[in-house]
Amino acid sequence: MASKFLIGTVITGLVLAGGFVWLSQPPAGAQVAPVVSGMHGGTDTQPGLNPDDIVLPVLSATAEQGKADFDKGCAVCHGVNAAGTERGPTLIHSLYRPGHHPDGSFYRAALQGVVAHHWRFGNMPPVPGITEAELGPIIVYLRELQQANGVN
Ligand code: HEC
Repeated sequence: MASKFLIGTVITGLVLAGGFVWLSQPPAGAQVAPVVSGMHGGTDTQPGLNPDDIVLPVLSATAEQGKADFDKGCAVCHGVNAAGTERGPTLIHSLYRPGHHPDGSFYRAALQGVVAHHWRFGNMPPVPGITEAELGPIIVYLRELQQANGVN
């Protein structure tokens, strides 16, 4: 008995909710704000920032070199300006500040990969062909970006 009542209540609730969603549709031709993708959602599980919201400092020569290699090897997942994508988190996040993820963890991540442990993007595979010589400047670049954005 009780469960039948419960099911009835749930169904009534669903019907009401459906009607509400239908009623709240904008009229045809109305301006609808673009749907914000998960990439820019900035939730705890999938942090992403708009690349345009990242403060871009004047980069040192080493960081410029690092940016070129980051854009080739890392941006596909970590995004332009390390803002994050649906495949990987932004690295301009207090979690990745030097005191919490020192440079060694950046080398390790790129050379050995990372088993997902902070987010729900999945594992980070080792980055094919990346070398320690490239990673030094990539880390300098990321630290300069972090610094300019108050992540330190
Ligand atoms: C195929 C996608 C992908 C690529 C390419 C990639 N990453 Fe990642 N990376 C991830 C994901 C996903 C995580 C988050 C794992 C987790 O949940 O903690 C991550 C995490 C990290 C972390 C944090 C490591 C830790 O100890 O928690 C660092 C640092 C990092 N990436 C640096 C880089 C650098 C530098 C490059 C380029 C050389 C790169 N990543 C390329 C997907 C990627």
